Amino acid sequence: MREMSDIRNIVILTGAGISAESGIDTFREKGGLWEKYPIEDVATPEAFERNPDLVHHFYDQRRKALLSVKPNKAHQSLGCLDRAWDGNLLIVTQNVDDLHERGGARRIIHMHGELKKALCLSCGMRSLMEGALAHRPPCPVCKASTLRPDVVWFGEVPYKMDKIYQALARADLFVSIGTSGAVYPAAGLVQEARTLGIQTLELNLQKSDGSHWFDSSRLGRATDLVPDWVSEVLRD
Ligand code: APR
Repeated sequence: MREMSDIRNIVILTGAGISAESGIDTFREKGGLWEKYPIEDVATPEAFERNPDLVHHFYDQRRKALLSVKPNKAHQSLGCLDRAWDGNLLIVTQNVDDLHERGGARRIIHMHGELKKALCLSCGMRSLMEGALAHRPPCPVCKASTLRPDVVWFGEVPYKMDKIYQALARADLFVSIGTSGAVYPAAGLVQEARTLGIQTLELNLQKSDGSHWFDSSRLGRATDLVPDWVSEVLRD
C-alpha cells in the first residue's frame, strides 16, 4: 500500500449511496427506486418509445425533488478535497443529481447524465432543464417539442468513458463511494484500476458486489467515512 503522501492523482467513483443521507432514494436497497418503478418501465429507450409520459413523470419527479434536498457532509468534503488538491482529481459519478456541484466540487464527470439537462431528439443539442418535460416544452435551440431527459438509460453508452479511462491511466488511487458495483462499465473501473496497479479503496454502507476487488473496504455511512478519509488525505 502506498503512503498517502505518495498519492498525486485520484479518481473517485460515486453512486447513489453518497446522496442517500441527503434524502435521495438509492436504487437497489429495500424500498429503493427500482422497487417502485421497474427499470424496463422508466429507464430504457424502449420504455420511452412505449410510454413517454410515464418516463417523463419519473424524471420530472426526481428533478423536482432536487429543489428540496441539500448536499451532505460527504459531498462537501469531496468539494473541499477538489478545491485543495493540487494533483489530478476526478469525481466520476453515476448519480444524476447535482449534489456534487452544490457541495463545491468542480472536476466531475456525470457518466449517467444529469437530471438538470435535456437532450433534443431533433437537433441533438443539450440544454439546462430545471422544470418538467411532461408538457413537452420546446427545445431552446430548435424549438421542436422533442426533448428527453439527458440521462443514460440501460442499453445506452455512458458518457465520456474515454476521459474516465484516461484519468484512470494516470491515477495512483481509485476510491469508490456509495455504489453497489452492480452496473457496468462503472462497476468494472476497480478491476481496470487493479490491472493498472492502482491502489483501491471502497467506502460503502455494506459489502458490495465488487468489494473483493478492493485493496481495502471501509464500511459505514458516507457522511462519516468520507470526511474522515478526506482529512487523512489532506493531512498527509
Ligand atoms: N453511505 C454509504 N453507502 C450507502 C449509504 C450511505 N448512507 N446508503 C446506501 N449506501 C450504499 C448501499 O450499501 C449500496 O451498496 O450505496 C449503494 C447503492 O447501490 P445502488 O442502489 O445499486 O446504487 P448505485 O450503485 O449508484 O447504482 C448504479 O445503477 O440503476 C443504475 O443508473 C443507476 O447510477 C445507477 C447505477
